[in-house]
Amino acid sequence: MADDKSTSRGAGAAAGIGRRSFLKAGAFGLAAGLGAAAARPGAAANPTFPVTEIAAIADLEVGAEVVFEYPDENSPAVLLRLAGPAEGGVGPNESIVAYSLLCTHKGCPVQFLADRQMLICPCHFSSFDAAKSGRIVIGQATEALPQISLKVQDGKVQAVGVKGLIYGRHTNIL
Ligand code: FES
Repeated sequence: MADDKSTSRGAGAAAGIGRRSFLKAGAFGLAAGLGAAAARPGAAANPTFPVTEIAAIADLEVGAEVVFEYPDENSPAVLLRLAGPAEGGVGPNESIVAYSLLCTHKGCPVQFLADRQMLICPCHFSSFDAAKSGRIVIGQATEALPQISLKVQDGKVQAVGVKGLIYGRHTNIL
């Protein structure tokens, strides 16, 4: 009988260890899975982003708009020189920013309204704040406009990355 109890406790303990190991492994697997999922939209940190020269600072008056493609030819983007400082801005007064031109709702090309410093989508009128990292102000879109990371090198503005996921892509670098 004593043997039965000890066997039973032993089996229970073994089962407990088994459950604990299983739960630990499950939690670890879940954490790893969540980590991978969190990394997906952040394709922003992808080290394979190209460095693309866009324009010379000297050529960018306040209100200037320069359309370019980044990170590849299927991804239209726009460089803007705003009237004042902007989140993520570079150059004079940190006023130069760039965004994907594709609305995050259904991919229509947005248009820049310089007097309001907004990027407006003509399809369903989502408005994105050009001075605040493309934050959605109003409209059908639920995500900010992807912001192109910029750098200044020898008086030229360069695109070096993307924050946020470009519309229609599962990853920014295809
Ligand atoms: S596609 Fe831009 S708001 Fe719908």
